[in-house]
Amino acid sequence: MTDRVAIVTGGGSGIGLATTTRLAEDGFTVAVLDMAPEAAAGPAALTVRCDVSAEPDVTAAVAAVLDQFGRIDVLVNNAGITGSRQAARCHETPVDEWDKVQAVNVRGPFLCSRAVLPSMIARRSGHIITIASVAGLVAFPGRCAYTASKGAALMLTRSIAVDYAADGIRANAVCPGMVYTPMTSWRLDQPDLLAAVEDRIPMGRVAAPPEIADAVALLASGRLGYMTGHPLVVDGGMAAL
Ligand SMILES: NC(=O)c1ccc[n+]([C@@H]2O[C@H](COP(=O)([O-])OP(=O)(O)OC[C@H]3O[C@@H](n4cnc5c(N)ncnc54)[C@H](O)[C@@H]3O)[C@@H](O)[C@H]2O)c1
Repeated sequence: MTDRVAIVTGGGSGIGLATTTRLAEDGFTVAVLDMAPEAAAGPAALTVRCDVSAEPDVTAAVAAVLDQFGRIDVLVNNAGITGSRQAARCHETPVDEWDKVQAVNVRGPFLCSRAVLPSMIARRSGHIITIASVAGLVAFPGRCAYTASKGAALMLTRSIAVDYAADGIRANAVCPGMVYTPMTSWRLDQPDLLAAVEDRIPMGRVAAPPEIADAVALLASGRLGYMTGHPLVVDGGMAAL
């Protein structure tokens, strides 16, 4: 099949870029929506500058994809931020940091899902795959805004799975553990911090972005067709500890 169309948000870096590359290799026409989409210009058929937390941006970007390609088979809600590098418990978390993290990690997937669903309903087919995190299943110490946002992204996934199953639309999440990307390299490039992270991973190493893209590609392939509302954990055993 060569006519399947996927949107990858945040496809300009890290897990999103690896996912864009992998889906393109698998025959998808991929559109990347990102604040900085330049790096995806190679594998993506279309790149659109878009802030996923801004409704006018998302509406215009999804319209551009439908205008150019006529359909959206898969939406990968991948764009995300962690907030400040400084660990902070709830009472120490700045309110504006909380708001920014929820805006990108929760409002973003909501707006993008909301924008693609009408065309998926019309075709009675579609798959929304959201990159949540192990932090949506177990709490990461000192990361209350991020942890809460990923829990919400996971429950948005389940809500969509329940509400649109009768329309032929599925929604699943991928929950990575620790992945080496521009989001985490500042930490993982410090040997003592890397050692502390690896110590909490039974497989003893962090993941590379293509290992997460593999999970997205498996879901996007249409195999596992009876699976919906599922958090697919890809974490080297971290959440099992
Ligand atoms: N790296 C990890 O260890 C890890 C672990 C679990 C989950 N995740 C999740 O995976 C996803 C990708 O993370 P990554 O590590 O590849 O990060 P990254 O920082 O390498 O890439 C994130 C991309 O999202 C884009 N982006 C950020 N805010 C945006 C916005 N408002 N609108 C549009 N695009 C925006 C950035 O421009 C960038 O291209 C995130 O949702 C993250 O929370 C990452």
